[in-house]
Amino acid sequence: MSGELSPIDKAKFVAAKRAAEFVEDGMRVGLGTGSTAAWLVRCLGEMVREDGLKIRGVPTSTRTAELARDVGIDVISLDEAKWLDLTIDGADEFDGELSLIKGGGGALLQEKIVATASDQMIVIADIGKEVERLGAFPLPLEVIPFGWQTTKALIEETLVSMDVLGRNTTLRMNGDVPYFTDEGNHILDLHLNRIGNARQLSLVMNQIPGVVENGLFLDVCDKVVVGYGDGRVEIR
Ligand code: 5RP
Repeated sequence: MSGELSPIDKAKFVAAKRAAEFVEDGMRVGLGTGSTAAWLVRCLGEMVREDGLKIRGVPTSTRTAELARDVGIDVISLDEAKWLDLTIDGADEFDGELSLIKGGGGALLQEKIVATASDQMIVIADIGKEVERLGAFPLPLEVIPFGWQTTKALIEETLVSMDVLGRNTTLRMNGDVPYFTDEGNHILDLHLNRIGNARQLSLVMNQIPGVVENGLFLDVCDKVVVGYGDGRVEIR
């Protein structure tokens, strides 16, 4: 399945393959979104088809749902599953406390709901995602389309009142038009450079009317499986 891969894809693949070993027969598994999570879905598909692994998967996006069905995974909704044994997903950044920034792929809302409804969350990532402090990657905020420019102004004003240094906020685009999430919302990316108090920022951002959810995943991740371009894997 892995063929001739670039070092970055190899790192993603080996992390996904190692994380797939945590999946057991009968589990209800949350399936993340993004290029690393796609490797995981392919690995699990292979285990279903070739080893007879029996799982039910709850995808976190339409993209992942389509791939999961294509590779032979039994796909159910979160409400059918009710609760999950394990979620495996990628991340844009993770730090030493296993706090994450997610949402680079625009699926943060379903990803956070699914991860929170799981006994365990494992993140799979290439080593380039490890940071000392979160924030170099822009923090995504999912906002409803109604009045999004006013919501953006409120967010920027709030960041000023919190003395946050980087305050540049951009609407995520899909070519010439605003990006729409699976839930029909937009994404504002906050270019903060460095997040001082992630807990406070997350709470305050989610209080702003129009903000549906933010991409900070705090106290959600139990393990990070880190892949390297030379095929090594470490577990944090
Ligand atoms: C999608 C996500 C992804 O997990 C994150 O963007 C990492 O993606 P990739 O594995 O492609 O680097 O949060 O919303």
